[in-house]
Amino acid sequence: MATVRHDDGDDAARLRAAMVDELRGDPITSTAVADAMGVVPRHLFAPQTSLKEVYESNTAVPVKRDRDGLTLSSLSAAHLQATMLEQAAIGPGMSVLEIGSMGYNAALLAELVGPAGHVTSVDIDPDIVERARAGLARAGYDRVEVVLADAEYGVPAAAPYDRIIVTFDSPDIPPAWLEQLAGDGRIVVPLRMKGVTRSIAFDRDGDGLISRDYRLCRFVPAQGDGAHAPRRLTLDTEVYLSVEDGEEAGFEVAALQRALRRPATRSWPGAAFDLPDELELFLLTGSPRMALLHASQTRIKEGLLNASAGLGVPALIAGDGSFAYRIKRAARQGGDAFECGVIAHGPSAADVAARYGDLLCRWAGRFRRRGAARIRYLPAQTPIPQEANPGGVVRKRHGSVVVAWPENPHPPGGISA
Ligand SMILES: C[S@@+](CC[C@H](N)C(=O)[O-])C[C@H]1O[C@@H](n2cnc3c(N)ncnc32)[C@H](O)[C@@H]1O
Repeated sequence: MATVRHDDGDDAARLRAAMVDELRGDPITSTAVADAMGVVPRHLFAPQTSLKEVYESNTAVPVKRDRDGLTLSSLSAAHLQATMLEQAAIGPGMSVLEIGSMGYNAALLAELVGPAGHVTSVDIDPDIVERARAGLARAGYDRVEVVLADAEYGVPAAAPYDRIIVTFDSPDIPPAWLEQLAGDGRIVVPLRMKGVTRSIAFDRDGDGLISRDYRLCRFVPAQGDGAHAPRRLTLDTEVYLSVEDGEEAGFEVAALQRALRRPATRSWPGAAFDLPDELELFLLTGSPRMALLHASQTRIKEGLLNASAGLGVPALIAGDGSFAYRIKRAARQGGDAFECGVIAHGPSAADVAARYGDLLCRWAGRFRRRGAARIRYLPAQTPIPQEANPGGVVRKRHGSVVVAWPENPHPPGGISA
């Protein structure tokens, strides 16, 4: 696909250049992605939205909502699109499948694959398919093929794909995506694990996949046959745990509810707090008895739980319903350092707090660094390696995610046991 040049008015061109400048360095690291984002007229894919809003680098433009107001389709935030395009490392001549359409990201893909490449984009919603086709035609990218289908089954007609980019929150990786990925292909997918979604760039590795990069992200939910709302266990009004399918059985809700009503203990094991998104993944995959604990701002203001539960915090759950979770405070050493603490509730609060504290100290002293986790996806028929840490195995409908943490050979200093 030849680069299309646009005479789209000074304002759009100026705002687009500013958006690309803002994204340069992080997340844009390649000239190819900077050039593509610099040339595709994003505003032609959201004609009812103001130029200023369309070219905000960090906000999505909602396009369709369900009856409860939940966004089902949006023009994704440029920051996230750039992140995923860099993760995908798309080159000229590639064949790419985009899962979830709107037109703009498909046009960026068309720029990246060039005239010798091919882009297929699939969406389950006929309105979105029509909208994407119209936007692509307006912007001059009508060689992109937009298909109406449930992407749970991929788009076999144009397979295999060198790259697959998924643009909705995926509870799992359906077999069709693996089947339709080329032998040396890469899939970038916002995969939900233990209640948190990360955009993961996976390469093939034997029957399964191995991660190359991962970043926190948020996306609209999957629809169709693969749709799957996160499971919640309610502990009190506006307080819940999000758990994986099948995990519910391992948690005794009545015991957790009783534990929450008991007074809390607080301890400071001497572990540094930084890289919070990495720490969260380390904790969530540190024990099979970890789940994400959430509380509303109202319950936090009432003092029921600490503010760390506002965005969801990993909680370690004991068999008797006692549980512990992480808090933080400015470190005594001063500066801008923080340290982790532990709040625990329930009859064995001291024991569960000590186990949580151990995990925090292990992270701070031996593992702490960015991007260290090795995330594998293994299809259902592939055995889980015996050496896998049970906490790092997340069972899915079509397979398992297995997260491993190689030790950091050069552990950082700072407060830590
Ligand atoms: C965030 S939007 C896509 C954004 C788009 N890639 C862009 O250019 O910004 C996600 C889309 O995924 C679609 N979707 C959700 N579940 C799907 C499924 N099972 N198959 C195909 N499309 C699906 C929704 O209809 C929605 O339009």
